[in-house]
Amino acid sequence: MVVAPRYPWQKAIFTTAVEFGPEPLTVLTGAIPAGLRGTFYRNGPGRLQRGNQRVGHWFDGDGAILAVHFQDGSAQGLLRYVQTAGYQAEERAGRYLFPNYGMTTPGPLWERLFGKNVKNCANTSILPLADRLLALWEGGAPHQLDRQSLQTLGLDTLGSLTSTTPYSAHPKRDPQTGEIYNFGVSLGRHATLHLYRSAPNGVIKKRVDVALEGLPLIHDFVMAGRYLVFMIPPVRLNILPLMFNLKSYSEALEWQPDLGTKLLIIDRENLAMVQQGEAPAWFQWHFANACEITPDLIRCQLVRYADFATNEYLREVSAGNPVTEAPGHLWEMELNIKTGHLERETQLTERDCEFPVVPDTQVGQSWRYTYCSMKRAGANVVKEIDSVMGCYDQQTQTWQEFDCGVGYYCMEPVYVSEGNYLINLIFNSHQEQSELWIFPAAQFTDGPCCQLRLPAIVPFGFHGKWAQD
Ligand SMILES: [Fe+2]
Repeated sequence: MVVAPRYPWQKAIFTTAVEFGPEPLTVLTGAIPAGLRGTFYRNGPGRLQRGNQRVGHWFDGDGAILAVHFQDGSAQGLLRYVQTAGYQAEERAGRYLFPNYGMTTPGPLWERLFGKNVKNCANTSILPLADRLLALWEGGAPHQLDRQSLQTLGLDTLGSLTSTTPYSAHPKRDPQTGEIYNFGVSLGRHATLHLYRSAPNGVIKKRVDVALEGLPLIHDFVMAGRYLVFMIPPVRLNILPLMFNLKSYSEALEWQPDLGTKLLIIDRENLAMVQQGEAPAWFQWHFANACEITPDLIRCQLVRYADFATNEYLREVSAGNPVTEAPGHLWEMELNIKTGHLERETQLTERDCEFPVVPDTQVGQSWRYTYCSMKRAGANVVKEIDSVMGCYDQQTQTWQEFDCGVGYYCMEPVYVSEGNYLINLIFNSHQEQSELWIFPAAQFTDGPCCQLRLPAIVPFGFHGKWAQD
């Protein structure tokens, strides 16, 4: 069933990505900064439909990677699907074959009874390494791609990942050492949190397993000086209906606010538990950043939701008819390392926002500016998507913003440390085209210094990264 667009932004989400490039991008306004040398990568679901079948949730789409390479004042764009085994099998079959985050096993009864493994969609984020690119998903191993051609080279075990040790989509890279920290959650009677510490080339050097209570959903964590911090929201998987293919993973997730939020503070050196704590119930997909502000105290920012309705809202957005109100707000918290208690919780805005980012050079360290995407002031938080880029200044405790304009939509800003730029993928609903806007980060409120047109609509996805040449 084809969903007829009801809102101007819908083609930014429903359009099935068509591979293109490498080809030069057209400059619409301004000029590409001469010193910009490197590649803007972003990942997201490239297709939400096959024939008359639609996916169950936005998170189910097959990963498609956009790469825009900048050199000597020019830009070349390239878009490729990640050639996962599931994508290739479904391409051959011409229909969906596998269960997914928001889908039970599709197809005839005999196929559904025997069950299948969930498809690794490789659709969530991207991790550029010196010699390769990783397309990340949180339920399995990353896929390895060639940095230039985006050719898929297969699953990457990072030296030791197995089918029972997934690698999540929000790794944190130490800006000083280049070491990479990440986690994965595997399911059993209870869940296990696998903590990974990797060399700059991605190879896992140390793994520690932590037993968790129940089967929680953990999407992100945060690095804070010498520590890693997890805030585990009270979402738990009811595994029986999932095992019997009666519900998808998403449908089997239950909001259990009485459990509260579990706080884990981990020593970054040896991955040992330092302290645990409890806090009231909330849900977050994403942290902005964290740092140690005293020997006892961690400061942390995250986009916090009152509950797990955001999951349903994101499903509805991808189905074309959002009705659930689920705003997220940037919060700042201070966590006592010795006691595991939250000492302070401050909501920094009333505006609905997401995708908080800080410069890569400040991850896990003190920082000043947090960039994010936001909804326009006064916008209908259910029917509109983000069209404003925001920035919270910790020093002055003030917000600045740039409104992309009516009919223009944005997603996660990607920070470029070399030259101090922000790059965002924009959907221009007037021309029905995707554009890349480049902003000098220090004056982003003045608007982009360059606007580029992409050869085709690149559907909105989740996360991107800049990689220097
Ligand atoms: Fe994410």
